Amino acid sequence: MKIIVCEDYDEVSLRASEIISKGIKEKKDIKLGLATGSTPQGVYQNLIKMFKRGELDFSSVSAYNLDEYYPIRKDDNQSYAYFMKDKLFSHINIKPENIHIPSGEAKEPAKECEKYDSALECAGGVDIQILGLGINGHIGFNEPADELIANTHLTPLTESTINANSRFFESIDDVPKFAITMGVGSILSAKSILLLVTGKNKHKALMATLKGTLSTSTPASVLALHKNVTVICDKEAYYGDAV
Ligand code: F6R
Repeated sequence: MKIIVCEDYDEVSLRASEIISKGIKEKKDIKLGLATGSTPQGVYQNLIKMFKRGELDFSSVSAYNLDEYYPIRKDDNQSYAYFMKDKLFSHINIKPENIHIPSGEAKEPAKECEKYDSALECAGGVDIQILGLGINGHIGFNEPADELIANTHLTPLTESTINANSRFFESIDDVPKFAITMGVGSILSAKSILLLVTGKNKHKALMATLKGTLSTSTPASVLALHKNVTVICDKEAYYGDAV
């Protein structure tokens, strides 16, 4: 694993957006694996600025999102479909048919999960997968548990994740209790992975991820199995209270 320790959130966002923009310039039809949440928003803002300056063209780029709450309507302003449109897609020239997000509206979630894995397989895996890290060590919504699931699946969210995500909702009771998420195998099928981690509250999970031992209690530890992972973190996440 390559580890880049940055001064702060802005530098993390800058370093990640430089890698992604280089990827887009080198391969026009690049396949990007995208995440939601607070961490990648600075990256998305940088990519939008580069697009507006005419430096990037997304017309052949495809996007595959990690996860979506279940059940949720696409036009619900808490859905990840809405988040991606609001924070990135509506500001760039990506084609709607090149956007892939598991559907929170699917009547049969198991079929939706199979369909999503087939789409990822047809794509040959994404070229660059962006990941955030849960305070509990999750990636996507692969939560700490006795077992980790390889493929895209429907999963209950843990109390820790529901609490962490309640900051986006009016009340904790409004936070969905389930999500469809790419599994750890689907994530590891990416050609390269960028794990972005900022803030002291991620320090413990980051250290458990970087340990080099695999544990289902820190799902992100499976990243040790991948040959092309770059961790871009800030000092607070890397050094914790020692900063
Ligand atoms: C989001 C996702 C999650 C987040 C993680 C960190 O699509 O899959 O794993 O990346 O919960 O969230 P933030 O960035 O809000 O701290």
